[in-house]
Amino acid sequence: MEKKTILITGGAGFIGSHVVRRFVNMYPDYTIVNLDKLTYAGNLANLKDIEKKPNYVFVKADIVDENRMKEIFQQYRFDGVIHLAAESHVDRSISHPNEFIYTNIVGTANLLIAARECWKDHTEGKRFYHISTDEVYGSLGKEGLFKETTSYDPRSPYSASKASSDHLVRAFHHTYGLPAVISNCSNNYGSYQFPEKLIPLSINNIRNNKPIPIYGKGENVRDWLFVEDHAHAIDLIFHKGKDGETYNIGGNNEWSNINLIRLLCRILDRKLDRQPGTSEKLITFVKDRAGHDLRYAIDSSKLRRELGWGPSLDFEKGLEKTVDWYLANEEWMNNITSGEYQKYYELQYKLR
Ligand code: NAD
Ligand code: DAU
Repeated sequence: MEKKTILITGGAGFIGSHVVRRFVNMYPDYTIVNLDKLTYAGNLANLKDIEKKPNYVFVKADIVDENRMKEIFQQYRFDGVIHLAAESHVDRSISHPNEFIYTNIVGTANLLIAARECWKDHTEGKRFYHISTDEVYGSLGKEGLFKETTSYDPRSPYSASKASSDHLVRAFHHTYGLPAVISNCSNNYGSYQFPEKLIPLSINNIRNNKPIPIYGKGENVRDWLFVEDHAHAIDLIFHKGKDGETYNIGGNNEWSNINLIRLLCRILDRKLDRQPGTSEKLITFVKDRAGHDLRYAIDSSKLRRELGWGPSLDFEKGLEKTVDWYLANEEWMNNITSGEYQKYYELQYKLR
C-alpha cells in the first residue's frame, strides 16, 4: 500500500469518527490527520479505541480560519482530503443560521483554497472529497427518488449551506482543475451520533422514561443508512471514484418517522424488559419543524453499479445493534447530555 497523508475534517463527529476509525485500522501505511474544532458535536471520546495508533494525528483547528488552513496544508502536504466538518443539525440551522454559513460555506471555501495552493504544481494522485447530503435536492412527494442529476432545491439554512459548498467544490474542479469528488448521502444512524438527532434522542428519552417528541404527525419519510455502510462507501469513492463525479449514497430503506419510532419502542421494550406497548406511550406529537421536508429517498444505483457498493445490514438488525450500543454506553451518553445539552433541549422543545 502506497504511503499517503490524508486529512479528514470533522473526524470527532458522528460519521467522521467512523471514517477515521476505518482508515486508521485498514490503512496502516496512511497517516490520518483528523482536524476538528471540537464544537458541541465533536467528541474525542468517539475515537478512544484508535487515539494511540501510530498512524493517527489529531489537530484542533477551525476551518473558518483561512490562514491556519493554509499553514496546516503546508505543514502536512496532504495527498487527499475527506471533508466532513460541518454544522449538521437542521433545527439548529433554523434557530441560528450564521454558524452554518461560516463553517459550511466559508470553511469549505478555505479548504478548497488551501488545497489548490498546496497542489498547484502537482495534482496527480491528489483528491479533494467533499461529503454532502441528500437534503440539497429538496423534498420529494410520495413518489420518485433523488438521482445525481436531480436539480438542487435546498429548503433549510442547513441544506442551503451544504448546497453552496457543493457548488464551490464543483466550481474549483471546473475552473482550476482541482481533483474533486462529491457524494450525497441519506440519513445515517448508528453508534456515536449526537442525541440531538431523532434516533439517539429517542433512545435516550425512552431509556429515561421521557416523552419522545415527534414533529407534526410523524408522516415525514427518511431513507436510513447504517453509518458503517456510509464509511465503506466513502472509502470506495475516495479510492475508486472519478474526479468531477457525484455519487448518491442511500439505504433504499424508507421509514416514516412514526413507524420508525414505533419499531424503536418495540425493540427497547424487549431490551429493557418492559411490557409490550410501554415505550410507545411516551410518543408525544409536538409542533412541526419550520419548512419540514416531507420525504427524502435516494437512487444509489450508480454507486452500486460502478463501484460495487451495497448496504451490509437490514434496518431492523442495524437498529437493534444501534440500540445495544447506546444501552452499553450509558456513560458516553450521560457525559454529553449533561450541561449545555440540557439548555439546548429545554429551549428547542419548549418552543414547540
Ligand atoms: P456531526 O455534527 O456529528 O459532526 C460534525 C463535526 O464537525 C464535529 O466533530 C464538529 O466538531 C466538527 N466541526 C464543526 N464545525 C467545525 C469547524 N468550523 N472547523 C472544524 N471542525 C468543525 O456531523 P455528522 O452527522 O457526522 O455529519 C458529518 C458530515 O456528513 C457533514 O458534512 C454532514 O453534512 C454530512 N452528512 C450527514 C448525514 C447524517 O445523517 N448525519 C447524512 C449525509 C451527510
Ligand atoms: O438526509 C441527510 C440528513 O439527515 C443530514 O444531512 C443531516 O445532517 C442529518 O441531521 C439528517 O437530517 P434530518 O433533519 O433528516 O435528521 P433528524 O434526525 O434531525 O430528523 C429526522 C426526522 O425526524 C425529521 O423528519 C425530523 C424528525 N424529528 C427530529 C427530531 C430531532 C422529530 O420528529 N423529532 C425530533 O425531536
